[in-house]
Amino acid sequence: MSIDAYLEENRDRHLEELFDLLRIPSISTDPQYDADIARGAEFVAKSLKDAGCSATIHQTKGHPIVTAEWLGAPGAPTVLVYGHYDVQPPAPLELWRNPPFEPTIEDGNIIARGATDDKGQFYCHVKGVEAHLKTAGKLPVNVKFLIEGEEESGSESLEPFIEAHKEELAADIVLISDNSMFAPGRPAITLGLRGMVYFELHVTGPSHDLHSGLYGGAVKNPINGLCQLISSMQGEGGSIAISGFYDDVEKLSEAERAEMAEVNHDDVAWAEGIEVEGSIGEDGYSILERTTIRPTMDVNGMWGGYIDAGAKTVLPSQAHAKISCRLVPNQDPIDIEAKIRAHIAEHCPEGLKIDFVAHHGGIPFVVNSEAPALDAAKAALGRVWGTEAVMLRSGGSIPVVASFKEMMGLDSVMMGLGLPDDRLHSPNEKFSLECYFNGIRSSAYIFEELGKV
Ligand code: BES
Ligand code: MN
Ligand code: MN
Repeated sequence: MSIDAYLEENRDRHLEELFDLLRIPSISTDPQYDADIARGAEFVAKSLKDAGCSATIHQTKGHPIVTAEWLGAPGAPTVLVYGHYDVQPPAPLELWRNPPFEPTIEDGNIIARGATDDKGQFYCHVKGVEAHLKTAGKLPVNVKFLIEGEEESGSESLEPFIEAHKEELAADIVLISDNSMFAPGRPAITLGLRGMVYFELHVTGPSHDLHSGLYGGAVKNPINGLCQLISSMQGEGGSIAISGFYDDVEKLSEAERAEMAEVNHDDVAWAEGIEVEGSIGEDGYSILERTTIRPTMDVNGMWGGYIDAGAKTVLPSQAHAKISCRLVPNQDPIDIEAKIRAHIAEHCPEGLKIDFVAHHGGIPFVVNSEAPALDAAKAALGRVWGTEAVMLRSGGSIPVVASFKEMMGLDSVMMGLGLPDDRLHSPNEKFSLECYFNGIRSSAYIFEELGKV
């Protein structure tokens, strides 16, 4: 039987199985879900075994890592598929049209937490491998899988695991589907990722909450102060006003920028899709540039003081914020963190004490665009979508891509199978049925194409 016929015949089962995976609330950030994380790992291992691979669950200090392999093509290249079975917390729950772990189909889209990030996408490769092994009984390449359960919470266990299992993981290329296509019907290969610095600020003013009538006007309010501090980091024309922040930012050539402009990013559809009037950001850059090749700073969350119903007059003792910067080549997260700390020390409003707590960061990364495997991805995507893949950098971050290069010398092919508006990390996350079934075909085909390299 041909691969296409096999996939056609097994469509319903492939969907049912993805639904079963999506029903597991494998939220990595919350220890309350540890048992579900374990179930997630078991489900992935079982799927890989059913597909015809040998699979192992490795316990770590954090969440289990699943590896699998099929090595029946001696002499052919070895592909290491990376993905993650953990998901972001679904909050705020009330904004979901259906419960996040009860997948539903609406307008041709699978709606569930993890639908596109990353369960739906990495599962395409499980099914792509299955299609080969159940039809031909073999694959044109050797395949290994490395599916982790801590991606959304910083991948703490992953680097030590890679370090300890370099030989078992040895490969010629890494294949990742944890990003997106360029637009509906327009596949893409991701050539770069932004890096990240993530930190929390904990601001303390008076020792306890105060009556704002008795003390207001004479005591520094930590929330007001935190807002001032955050404002002090915003510069003119949408820039970031931290001394030295742009020192190492790679300047793209006019030719590279012209190439980006040529892909015709649909700015109107982009704005409509998220119901904003238009884009903001650094003067002189397009939306596509602002979201991929330029660095950013965003407050992810902020809290403090009185937030329950009604009006309580209080001058709070504390204020808190979680802030992240997306970094681009050649910014160094350690250097940028030091520059942010220096800015905060210098601009801390009088009367306040600030604690800076750093989270795990990531270095920005650009792939080796000469890697022959990129052509295989292009060919596979071209066969599926009937149009040439766009080669572009992405604004998101997948820190392990840099680790694969650094620790194992491996290049990654990032073949995003979802859409940019899939509501990653947000309520009503989706993955279209078309993307899922075409993703499985893209996977089956890329193994064929890589076998030709
Ligand atoms: N899959 C995303 C990253 C992504 C999405 C890359 C779309 C390119 C296009 C991944 O799961 C993710 O969310 N990464 C985090 C970083 C991590 C260190 C928490 C991110 O980008 O915020
Ligand atoms: Mn992801
Ligand atoms: Mn994610």
